[in-house]
Parts: sequence; C-alpha cells; structure tokens
Amino acid sequence: MILVTGVNGQLGFDVVKELNKRSIDCLGIDKKELDITDENAVDDYIIKLNPECVIHCAAYTAVDKAEEEREICYKINVNGTENVAKACRKVNAKMIYISTDYVFDGKGDIPFEVDGNINPLSVYGKTKYEGELKVKENLNKYFIVRVSWVFGLNGNNFVKTMLKLGKEKESLNVVCDQIGSPTYTADLAPILCHMAQSEKYGVYHATNEGFCSWAEFATEIMKKTGLNCRINPIPTSEYKTKAIRPLNSRLSKRSLEEDGFDLLPRWEKALERYLKEIRGLF
Ligand SMILES: NC(=O)c1ccc[n+]([C@@H]2O[C@H](COP(=O)([O-])OP(=O)(O)OC[C@H]3O[C@@H](n4cnc5c(N)ncnc54)[C@H](OP(=O)(O)O)[C@@H]3O)[C@@H](O)[C@H]2O)c1
Repeated sequence: MILVTGVNGQLGFDVVKELNKRSIDCLGIDKKELDITDENAVDDYIIKLNPECVIHCAAYTAVDKAEEEREICYKINVNGTENVAKACRKVNAKMIYISTDYVFDGKGDIPFEVDGNINPLSVYGKTKYEGELKVKENLNKYFIVRVSWVFGLNGNNFVKTMLKLGKEKESLNVVCDQIGSPTYTADLAPILCHMAQSEKYGVYHATNEGFCSWAEFATEIMKKTGLNCRINPIPTSEYKTKAIRPLNSRLSKRSLEEDGFDLLPRWEKALERYLKEIRGLF
C-alpha cells in the first residue's frame, strides 16, 4: 500500500491517478484527512495504515506569500516533512519527498547536479531544503526528487494563468532571464511510481526535457492555443516579486538516467498533451 499526501494538489492528484492506472494499492489524502503539521496525528495515521511507501506531495507552495508567512511555511514544509519521515521510520516505509529547483541560487548557466551547491534565495526554497535534511536525518530508504515549474490538472499554475491573461490582454510582459524546465505532473507521476517500487534510493532531479525561459514558455502556450496575445520578454529586474527566484533553474538529470529511470519527454510535447487535457476548462 502506498500513501500519497497532497492528493488535492497538482502532483498528488496525478500520482494517485497513475498508481490506480497501474492497479497499485494506494490511498491519497489531503489536509482534511490528515494535517501533516500535527505530529501525533501523523504518527497515529501512518502507524495504523502501515504503508510500504509514502509519496509526500503535500507542501506549502505559495512562493511569494511565504516571504510573509515564514512560520506557517516552515511548519508545513519542515515540521510536516519531519513528522512524515519519523512516522515512516517507525513502520519501515520508504519515503519519496518532492523538492524544488529553488534550493539552488541559480548562479551560472550550466545545469545543477544533484550534489550541487545548495543556497536557496527564498523562504520557500529554504524550507524545502530543510525538509530534505529532515528526510535524510530520519531515513535510509528515501528518494528526494527535485522538480521545477510544475503544471497539472489540479490547482493553479503558470499555464492556466497565461491562458486566462492571454484571453484578456493584447500583450503581456514575461521574464526572459529565468531559465528552467516546465514539468507536467502526468509525466512525473510514472517516475515516482517506478521509484516507489525500486530500491535505488537517493537524490534525483526530474523535469521534462529541454530548457526555456518563462517568456518562451508563455510564447509556446499562446502559439499552441492560437491566442492572439503578444509576449514581451522582460528581465527579472523589471518584474518585482516578494521572493527572489534563481535565474538558472536548469537541473541535470544525470543521476536519473544513470540509475535506469526514464527521462521525461520534451516540455513542448508535454504542454501539447496538457492543453488537450484541460481543453474545455478554458
Ligand atoms: N508547483 C511548482 O511549480 C513546484 C515546483 C517545484 C517543486 N514543487 C514541489 O512539488 C510538490 C507538489 O507541488 P504541487 O504544485 O502539486 O503543490 P500544490 O498543488 O500546492 O498542492 C499541495 C497540497 O498540499 C496540501 N497541504 C498544504 N498544507 C498541508 C497540511 N498542513 N497538511 C496536509 N496537506 C497540506 C495542500 O492542501 P490545501 O490546498 O488545502 O492547503 C495541497 O493540496 C511540493 O512538494 C512542491 O514543493 C512544486
């Protein structure tokens, strides 16, 4: 039995869908069933359920808001993850923890390796890294999977925002000097299912293949949907946000490939399939 937290979020939803598709016994839960910040509740729940693996997709993900809500972000991403990791240890379950490109500072222009220099620029990035440390401190049987620029059916994401604004506006300013890889949850979910059944523990990066800027991503969204909205590329310095984001979010997938996990498809193809999936919603 595999327990998936954050089932109402983007990734958790598709992970449960993929496990069901593969007829793997699983249970998806969210805050209503279990608040991960409640240590005793997490213990009781996981000990009673006795899963062989927990895929921990629940998180505080509001990157800008986190700069003002430090405590709640810390509580969910660090204490919550620690609670899950400790409970996993008690039942000898493996844990798959989802982390982020925002643990890096984005210096340079080459892809970060899994053991690259950690230096988060934001509260969110710091808490996600501290979450990684809690997993490592408490468990031997763990996967830490850093992902980036996530889009899925459930919840809000950049693609949905662009579709909405693209219908309302003739042009949009979008940053062109943050480079990374969009990641479609439906492409990520099969890798996580594979990990849940593997013992090749460690730290991995998993994103769709190829790199682009947010402006290039936005341009592709408009092109593929035929929306008549011009994308004006602007530097990050002209687009102020509360949280500082890394300019170079390129992640190396070397360890994923070397350990026999499939690389994800190109991001443009992923976007094409995603736009089909959400057709009718927009
Ligand atoms: N989104 C991205 O671009 C991105 C990029 C890199 C890494 N990641 C990581 O990828 C993972 C999945 O992200 P996502 O985009 O799928 O996140 P998401 O859509 O924001 O979903 C997160 C889920 O966690 C739940 N949650 C929050 N606090 C909780 C608590 N105290 N107890 C139990 N559940 C709680 C949320 O419930 P409520 O909505 O009810 O609060 C939500 O359903 C996260 O670890 C995230 O840090 C995401």
